[in-house]
Amino acid sequence: MKAVLFGASGMVGQGVLRACLLDDRVEGVVLVTRSPLGRRHPKLREIVHRDFTDFSAIEDQLTGLDACFYCLGVSAAGRGADEYRLVTHTYTLAAAQALARHNPALTFVYVSGEGTDGTGQARAAWARVKGETENDLLAMDFHAYMFRPGWIQPRHKERSRTRWYRVMYRLTSWLFPVMRRLAPRHTTTTEHMGRAMIAVAGLGGAGPRILHSPEINRLGA
Ligand SMILES: NC(=O)c1ccc[n+]([C@@H]2O[C@H](COP(=O)([O-])OP(=O)(O)OC[C@H]3O[C@@H](n4cnc5c(N)ncnc54)[C@H](OP(=O)(O)O)[C@@H]3O)[C@@H](O)[C@H]2O)c1
Repeated sequence: MKAVLFGASGMVGQGVLRACLLDDRVEGVVLVTRSPLGRRHPKLREIVHRDFTDFSAIEDQLTGLDACFYCLGVSAAGRGADEYRLVTHTYTLAAAQALARHNPALTFVYVSGEGTDGTGQARAAWARVKGETENDLLAMDFHAYMFRPGWIQPRHKERSRTRWYRVMYRLTSWLFPVMRRLAPRHTTTTEHMGRAMIAVAGLGGAGPRILHSPEINRLGA
């Protein structure tokens, strides 16, 4: 399979990239980034792009793809509503529409989050914005899977791009085995996320379209 990965510099994206490079089912990975990662690997090609609301300038390089692993996203904490919506909904739909035009057999895997609500009734604004993004992706003309992980533990030295997340992970890493035992339905790892994304990309649209940590862990085991 040939995949495009958004958000490769982030904590989840680093785990997904690692899984793709290790997995023989993945022949090639295109990274779309806003600053060069500078990674070198025979499977990798990187496209640096600045305007994530409009991919027309690079659309001709986004062809021949079987899967999109969309790990780009931000926390709503400390961010204005407009900025959160721009990054979460506008950027994601712009990428999805550009990919759908050129890749009719694409499977689009979106990293959403536990608590996302597609009914429009959620009290938290972030949950409504993610829910609307999920609904719009699920209505598009490709196979789409929504990943709703709870707590994601970084493995293999993946680092969050968000400073306060890095601090929190440093302070709480000892707690993860306890959390995994007490709340297995709400925990996963970057490694499981990566392997599960590759697994759903091979399902041809079968199975549930919205996956929480238990399904992610089963597919990524
Ligand atoms: N971490 C968790 O425990 C957790 C749990 C549930 C759901 N999630 C979801 O998973 C997704 C990824 O989270 P993460 O922890 O990997 O985040 P992260 O480490 O902060 O990484 C964010 C990624 O998004 C990119 N990005 C952010 N703002 C951007 C912008 N304005 N333009 C272009 N690219 C931008 C970053 O690129 P740059 O390097 O260029 O900034 C980076 O690649 C998010 O949607 C998050 O809500 C995370």
